Amino acid sequence: MSDGTLGVAPIHIVGAGGLGREVFDALFQNGVTAADVVFADDHLAAGEVHGAVVRRLADTVGGSYVVAVADPAGRRRLRRRMESMGSTPMAVVHPRAVIAHDVVVWPGCVVLANAFISTGVRLEPHTQVHSNATVGHDTIVHEYTTVLPGANLAGNVVLERDVTVGSNACVLSGVHVGAGTFIGAGAVATKTHPAGRLLTRVPAR
Ligand SMILES: CC(C)(COP(=O)(O)OP(=O)(O)OC[C@H]1O[C@@H](n2cnc3c(N)ncnc32)[C@H](O)[C@@H]1OP(=O)(O)O)[C@@H](O)C(=O)NCCC(=O)NCCS
Repeated sequence: MSDGTLGVAPIHIVGAGGLGREVFDALFQNGVTAADVVFADDHLAAGEVHGAVVRRLADTVGGSYVVAVADPAGRRRLRRRMESMGSTPMAVVHPRAVIAHDVVVWPGCVVLANAFISTGVRLEPHTQVHSNATVGHDTIVHEYTTVLPGANLAGNVVLERDVTVGSNACVLSGVHVGAGTFIGAGAVATKTHPAGRLLTRVPAR
C-alpha cells in the first residue's frame, strides 16, 4: 500500500454528509480520534460531527485531506481547492475491506467496509470503492471514478476517469466504459460504452 494511507493531522474530511460520516468511521476503526479530524464543509460549518469540528473550506490549512463526495466532478474541484490551501491527499481504507496484496491504494482513494478488490487491480488516485462493492481481477479504475455500494465489476474491466457505477450495478468481464459515463443503479453493462452516457436497465442502454 502507498504512503497515501498515512495522514498528517489535522485530517480534513471534505464533506460532512453521509459519506463524510462513513469516511470518519473508517478512520475511527483505524484508531484515528475526533481530535485529529476536521470536517471541511461550507454548508455545515461551525457545527460538530461525531465530536469533530466542522470548518469552512477557506478556514482549513495544511495537514492532509480526503474528499468524501461521490460525484467525480465535485471531487476534482474540491481536490484543487484543498491543495491550494497546502493540504496533501491521503487514502482512507476501512480495516474490513479486502484488498489483494499487489494493489496500490493511491492518495485520495476511499475504500469502505466489505469492499473486495482483487489481484492485479489498478485503482488510480481519487477513486472510491464503497461498501460491499467488488472489483474483479486486472480491472483498471481511472482517476475520480466512483463505484457505489454493492456494485460488481467483473475481471479485466476498464472504467475511464469520472465514471460512476450505481448501487448494485454490474459491469461484465472485459467491458470498457468511457469517461464520465454514469451507470444507473441495478444496470448491467454488457459491452463497451462510449464516454458521457447515462445508462440504465438490463442490458444497459
Ligand atoms: C439513473 C439515475 C442517475 C437517474 O436519475 P434521474 O435522472 O434523476 O432520474 P429520475 O429519478 O428522474 O427517473 C427518471 C425515470 O427513470 C427511472 N429510473 C431511475 N433510475 C433508474 C434505474 N437505475 N434503473 C431503471 N430505471 C430508472 C425512474 O423510475 C423514472 O421512470 P419514469 O419516468 O417511468 O417514472 C439514478 O436513478 C440512479 O440510478 N442513480 C444511482 C444512484 C445510486 O446508486 N446511489 C447509491 C448511493 S448510496
